[in-house]
This record gives sequence, C-alpha cells and structure tokens, in this order.
Amino acid sequence: MSLPPLLDGRTVIVTGAATGIGQAFALACSAQGAHIVVADMGPADETMDLIARQGGQAIYVKTDVADNDSTQAMAAAALQRFGRIDGLINNAAYFREVKLTDFEAIDPAVWERIFAVNVKGVWQCCKAVMPAMRQQHSGAIVNIASVVAVAGQPGYLHYVATKGAVLSMTKGLAKEVGQHGVRVNCIAPGFVITDATRNRPVEWQQSFLKARAIGREQRPDDLVGTAVYMLSDLSGFVSGQTVVVDGGHIMY
Ligand SMILES: NC(=O)c1ccc[n+]([C@@H]2O[C@H](COP(=O)([O-])OP(=O)(O)OC[C@H]3O[C@@H](n4cnc5c(N)ncnc54)[C@H](O)[C@@H]3O)[C@@H](O)[C@H]2O)c1
Repeated sequence: MSLPPLLDGRTVIVTGAATGIGQAFALACSAQGAHIVVADMGPADETMDLIARQGGQAIYVKTDVADNDSTQAMAAAALQRFGRIDGLINNAAYFREVKLTDFEAIDPAVWERIFAVNVKGVWQCCKAVMPAMRQQHSGAIVNIASVVAVAGQPGYLHYVATKGAVLSMTKGLAKEVGQHGVRVNCIAPGFVITDATRNRPVEWQQSFLKARAIGREQRPDDLVGTAVYMLSDLSGFVSGQTVVVDGGHIMY
C-alpha cells in the first residue's frame, strides 16, 4: 500500500533554504508534494536546481528575515505564486558567523544582530504568514532552535539566548494562534554537519558524537522527517512542542 504525499498541494516557506539544513527541509517538503518558497538572504540556485530535478515547484524570494518589509514581501510572493501559505519553517539564523567568545567579551553589535535575525526574524516571518493562515483557518509553523537552548553551551551565550527565545516563542505563539487553526512546533537539532559547522574543532565534534545513543555524525537529512511530520496532518493535535533531534544525546 502506498500513502499519498503528506504535503500534497500545500505551500511551504523555508527560510535559510539556500544551504545546509534549510536546503534539506526544502527538498523533503517538495518530495512530499509541497510548493516551496525558498527564502534566503543569499542566492539559492543549487536548491532551486535540486527541487526542479526532482520534479518539484518552487520560487526563490530574496529575503532578509531581520527586515520586516522583506518578510512581508516574502509572504506576498508566496501568495501571488501559489495562492496560499500552509507551512513556514523558520530555519534562517545568524549561526555560521558565531565565534566562540567569553560572555563578557561579546561585541554588543553582534548581540544586537543575532537577536535581530534569530528572534525578531522568527517573529516577523510568523507575522507575515499569519493573515493567510488565519484566513484559511489552518497552518503549521516549525521553528528551528538548537539543543544548546536545552543543554547550554559555554562560549555561545548570545546564540544560546536566541535559541532559548525561539523555544519559548514556540509555546507562547502556539497558545495564541491555536484558535485560528494554526499549530506551532519546534525542532532542537544537535550538532549537524553542514558548511556552517564543518570547520568547528574536531575534539568538539567528537565529544557530541561520543555522547549520543546513536553514535554517528548527524546530517541535515536526519531532521527532515520530524519537520514533515510537524507540517503534516499526522501532527494535527500537536502544538507548542519541541523535539530534540540529536541521536539521543540530550533526553528532554
Ligand atoms: N548545523 C548545526 O549543527 C545546527 C545545530 C543546531 C541548530 N542549528 C540551526 O539550524 C539552522 C540551519 O543551520 P545550518 O547549519 O544549515 O546553517 P547555514 O549557515 O548552513 O544555513 C543558514 C542559512 O540561513 C541563511 N540566512 C542567514 N541569515 C539570514 C537572514 N537574515 N535572512 C535570510 N536568510 C538568512 C544563510 O544564507 C544560509 O543559507 C539554523 O537555525 C541553526 O541555528 C544548526
């Protein structure tokens, strides 16, 4: 027996979909029948090409999630092309630029920017899609936090604080928008090998790997099943939840 695609005919916006985990989300949602809005600050030719090669439909919208007008334009482009917005994955983040820094030495300008992208950006993207979701009386938002929001991580206080905010916003927003048929959930990935993390210290990578119940590297594809589940009707009565996907390191 074959099941129909889980996201057939739906429209899903994936922020930060040009590379890494966001690209994996975009490809997986497309494979499940969704129309994809590839929203990224940078060019996303590779993602667009990969979606086209697997027979999917997508548009690229150059988007800076930290800029409110830009997120409004992202939602408008999605509606103009596909007529509805069913899903949003808030994946874009100020992440690869983050440097290991004692908390007292964090540059205030970096503190401001990381909150503008990782926290205000999530809020602004949620605001941008909400009128469409409210009108449809349905929608699913998936926020990407990090296991560091649950477990802590020395030297990354600014980043940890933003991901803690994403985790809490998931709960707060879920309570506020449930009445409109909109669900909000969160994934907290462990240490995933992407271009953003490939050059982090090897000992550091090894320590994560050793602590896992499933003792291997984590790859972007390890996250997509949880995201598709959270966007689909399979999780129709699940909201405000965070799932740690890290191979069984932190048991939350
Ligand atoms: N890789 C990991 O180990 C790991 C672990 C936990 C959580 N995460 C989270 O997963 C997500 C993706 O991580 P990744 O490793 O794929 O990172 P990445 O740096 O490879 O990808 C991030 C993408 O977001 C885009 N982006 C950055 N700022 C943006 C902005 N202001 N507006 C629009 N797009 C913007 C970038 O252009 C890039 O394409 C992030 O939210 C990150 O915090 C990653």
